Amino acid sequence: HKLGILISGRGSNMQALVEGSRVPGSPYSVALVASDKPEAAGLAWAAGQGIATFARSPKGLAKADYESQIDAALRSHGVEAIALAGYMRLLSDAFVARWRGHIVNIHPSLLPNYKGLDTHARAIEAGDSHGGCSVHIVTEELDGGAVLGQSKVPILPGDTADTLAQRVLAEEHKLYPRIVAQWLSR
Ligand code: GRF
Repeated sequence: HKLGILISGRGSNMQALVEGSRVPGSPYSVALVASDKPEAAGLAWAAGQGIATFARSPKGLAKADYESQIDAALRSHGVEAIALAGYMRLLSDAFVARWRGHIVNIHPSLLPNYKGLDTHARAIEAGDSHGGCSVHIVTEELDGGAVLGQSKVPILPGDTADTLAQRVLAEEHKLYPRIVAQWLSR
């Protein structure tokens, strides 16, 4: 399966997915890394790995036109499934419908808890014993589709949003390639 990855920044989960695709027997390869932020650090890394990239800001474009460009780039690279990896823009209902069941996302909380932003601060504030991360199917509802896999991370005394985020991120890097491989080996 050819995977397209959408990022907006650092791209550490994208990097983990690329590394996972290189494990012998991996059911997927990464055909395109696309970013709405041309300056995203992850783009330069992907290009350096010889992976095709699409880098375009949506500035000045209607959302539908911008998404058509992304869609065209994905299709021209033969992409069959999409992984969001820190892509900070909401996909339109039309885009989600066109790729229905073929988009996954990684979210830094134990869904259905803490959809949206500031997940770690909210988990600490609530006095939760654990934070974590979830890989889920993307639907029209933000962070709302079926959960394919989760990792739990204990919240330690003295944890701040940053220290918890670091430990959760390490788990994201293990979880995401594993779940994407499972998802695409049907
Ligand atoms: C990760 O915490 C991911 O869970 C969230 O955005 C962050 C992206 O980080 N959706 P990176 O760009 O993959 O390093």
